[in-house]
Parts: sequence; C-alpha cells; structure tokens
Amino acid sequence: MSNISMDTIDITGEAPLEEPQRQYYYMAAAKKKIGEASKKLGRPLTFCVNTFGCQMNARDSEKLVGVLEEIGYEQADSEQADFVIYNTCTVRENANQRVYGRLGYLHSLKKKNPHMMIALCGCMMQEPHVVEKLKKSYSFVDLIFGTHNIYKFPELIATALDSNRMVIDIWKDTDQIVEDLPSERKYPFKSGVNIMFGCNNFCSYCIVPYVRGRERSRNPRDIIREIEALAADGVAEIMLLGQNVNSYGKTLETPMTFAALLREIEKVEGIQRIRFMTSHPKDLSDELIQVMKESKKICPHLHLPLQSGSSRILEKMNRHYTKERYLQLVDKIRAAVPDISLTTDIIVGFPQETEEDFLETLDVIRRVRYDSAFTFIYSKRTGTPAAAMEDQVPEEVVKERFDRLLKEVQEISRETSSRLTGTVQEVLVEEVNEHDNSLVTGRMGNNLLVHFPGDASMIGKLCRVSLDECKGFYYMGTAIKDEG
Ligand code: 5AD
Ligand code: SF4
Repeated sequence: MSNISMDTIDITGEAPLEEPQRQYYYMAAAKKKIGEASKKLGRPLTFCVNTFGCQMNARDSEKLVGVLEEIGYEQADSEQADFVIYNTCTVRENANQRVYGRLGYLHSLKKKNPHMMIALCGCMMQEPHVVEKLKKSYSFVDLIFGTHNIYKFPELIATALDSNRMVIDIWKDTDQIVEDLPSERKYPFKSGVNIMFGCNNFCSYCIVPYVRGRERSRNPRDIIREIEALAADGVAEIMLLGQNVNSYGKTLETPMTFAALLREIEKVEGIQRIRFMTSHPKDLSDELIQVMKESKKICPHLHLPLQSGSSRILEKMNRHYTKERYLQLVDKIRAAVPDISLTTDIIVGFPQETEEDFLETLDVIRRVRYDSAFTFIYSKRTGTPAAAMEDQVPEEVVKERFDRLLKEVQEISRETSSRLTGTVQEVLVEEVNEHDNSLVTGRMGNNLLVHFPGDASMIGKLCRVSLDECKGFYYMGTAIKDEG
C-alpha cells in the first residue's frame, strides 16, 4: 500500500503536474466522489478486476486493485459490481474474442445497474482496430486506456466519474516509469516485481513489442527498495517480471546485468525464494547460470521458451538461436544446476512449418524432457511480420500436429514430475486445500504443487515435506517435524 494519506491532500486547488503526486490528487478527488455516491445509495460501491493473460498483467491488476481500494470501492466476488475493469491480453486472437464475448454479458448487467461503470485496459487496447470496434459497437463502455499510461488510472477514473461519454486515453509508447503508486497484493506471502517493461526483440509472430513498447529497465535501487518493503510486509517469495529478463539493465544510464541484479536481490533479508520470468535463450549468460548455481534463494526452475525446434523456423521467427545452440544451453544449465526444472513455450503451425520442422520440435522435446510445456497454436497477429508471410499452415494440419505435441509433452511431463517421489523438499504453503480442509496446498521450488496435512496457520511458511506419492502433476506428502 501507499504511505501517502489521502485525507491530507488538498483537492480544492489545481492538480499538481509532477508524478506520482498528481495521481494521489486524483485519488483523493475520486475518493470524495465515491464516498458521496455510497452515502446516497446507502451501501458501499463495489469493484471487480478481471485479468486476462500473463503474470505481467496479473501484477498490473494488483495496481488497479490498490487504486480502487484506496478510493473507497470494496471488492465484489463477481462482475455484478459498480465498477468492472478487464485487463486484457492480445497475444493470441482467442484472448480478444473472449473479451468481446464477455462484454455482451457486462452490457446486460449495466442495464440493470445504472451506476455501473465498465473499463477496459491492457494490451488489446493498444491495437487501433480494437478501439475503433469498441467505439462503434460497444458504446456502453465508460473508460478505455492502454499499457503505457496505467499509472494514470486514478486520473482517468476521476475523469470518467465526471463524464457521461466514453473516456479514451491510449499512448503509442512511453519512456516513463512512475514509481510509488499503491498496489494490493493477491497473496500476502508472495509477489511479482516488475524489473522491466516492454520488449525489443520483435519475434516475427509476436505483438508484444507493439503493444508494450520499447524495453525499459527499472532502476535497481527502486527494485531493491520495493523488495525490501515487501520483505518487511511478510513476503517470502518474489517473482521478477519482464518480457526478457536476461536483457535487464542494458538501457540503464549505468548498465547492469540481470545476474548482478540477482546478486543484490539475494542479499535482501526475509526474502527466501526468488523466481523470474521470462528468459530469452539468446541472452542467457554464463554469469546468470553461475549465479543460479551459487544462490540459496533462486528457485531451481527456468522457463526457457523454445517456440520451435527447427532452426529454419527459428530463423523466420527472428529468435536468434538454432536448435543446436538451444540444446547446448540446456546441457550447460543442467551441468551447473543438475536438478533444475525446465519449462517452455512452443508454437505449432508457424507459417511454412513443414512436417520435418515439426519433427525437429518433437525431437527437442524428447531430448530436453521438459517438466512442463505451454503449447500454443500459432495465431496470426495483424501488423506482425509473420502475418504477411506466405504459406500459412492449414488449420487441420496444425490441429493434428498440436494434438501430437500435447500428447508427447504430457507423457514426458508426467514422467519427469514423478522423479522426486520419496525425497524431502521445501514447500511454501499457499492455501488450505479447496476440496479437503484437513490439507494445505503448497509449491515447491520447481513450481509443482504438493498437498499435505496441515492448517491455515501454515500459510506463507516454508515447510519441509516428504513427497509420498506423485499423482500426475502434483504430489501428496507429509510435513517433516523440525528437529530443532
Ligand atoms: N501465436 C501463438 N502463440 C504466441 N505466443 C506469442 N505470440 C504468439 C502467437 N502469435 C506465445 C509464445 C510466447 C507465449 C507467451 O505466447 O510461445 O512465449
Ligand atoms: Fe514476444 Fe519475443 Fe518479446 Fe517474448 S521475446 S514478448 S515472444 S517479441
């Protein structure tokens, strides 16, 4: 949460121009409005934040929640709320379709609740054709903003509260990073921490560089300060977030490597586990492997997107590595951190992918034996170089390859997941088990879940757990009593 008190802000004068003070001014103004509306209605006003897409969006949504709570809304447990915001994703077309589909439902809710406000933000809003469509066919939406100005949410919501027209504010790009705005964590004991924004890689299929803008690294001092504050607030595990964490620090005034940043973060007392995502294979350095090997806090897990096992397709994807280099990198990582869990992303059906190319992907899967893999059907994103490539692969062919890939990935994953049976592992307890409240559910360093007897008092604590039985993709276990 923030350390600036809303009630001490003077909102009778002009809004300050500097940030974040300007946003605090608008939060105070919005809070007054929400307070008055709630008094009139005789009930609190409620909100619902619905997040689509990646961890980056999940973290952004915590910032939206932080602002909404600060200005006096209360969290609702469904979309039957007074303020509903969708934080959208556009990495694949089906994510867009889901948003359009759900907007129809929101419209029906709004007809029943005249106080309801509907807002849309996130990656999908950075696409001009989306905003055009919303203006034309979804005029009941109250507020639309993008990824670059999310820090302006208080100002935008204050404007929307004062307006009965659709408020739209989309920026093409930004070089600004605004620190010190409120955020409300979903979990008390773990948190995402942005270390950089945007992406400069322009993989030829990917829309992210267009909607998230150029790569910008946060200042290491700001990152450490945030992590120290999280540790002081009881956070044991952090996930460092960036589209390509391995190129962290290149654009800073005083450049710094990701490995060097990790060494600094490791020193923060109270933080017990460090995770990060995502790593681009082309930038994964020997220095990082060394830091992972020496670290007591970095989890033995690496998400290393392969995308394709065919060097020919990798070149068309603009990935800057070959099948052989990727496999060498995996060998090097495993030699340094033998029990590391490796996970990946794979795209099937990239333009011009042949059966031979696909077999190369299967070959890498069989050689690396990933702990798990996210598999995606290639989705054509307007404006990316791949969308204009000839020979898009027919749908039936892609579907057939996708099913073969999924079967292979799942079989391997089931086998690799069970390799820890009978060992004792550290588990961070996350919650009381949803189906059986005599059990708790926690996560191991390699990201797999474990269910074992326990109670709510264990949430947020690291326990040593004996892994008794592997049930496919999770374990049943027993906590080991500490000897002292
Ligand atoms: N089609 C399918 N999958 C995609 N990804 C990114 N862009 C596309 C696309 N156009 C996948 C990549 C990336 C993950 C986050 O999403 O595998 O690593
Ligand atoms: Fe997209 Fe490639 Fe950047 Fe990842 S590294 S966000 S796949 S352009």
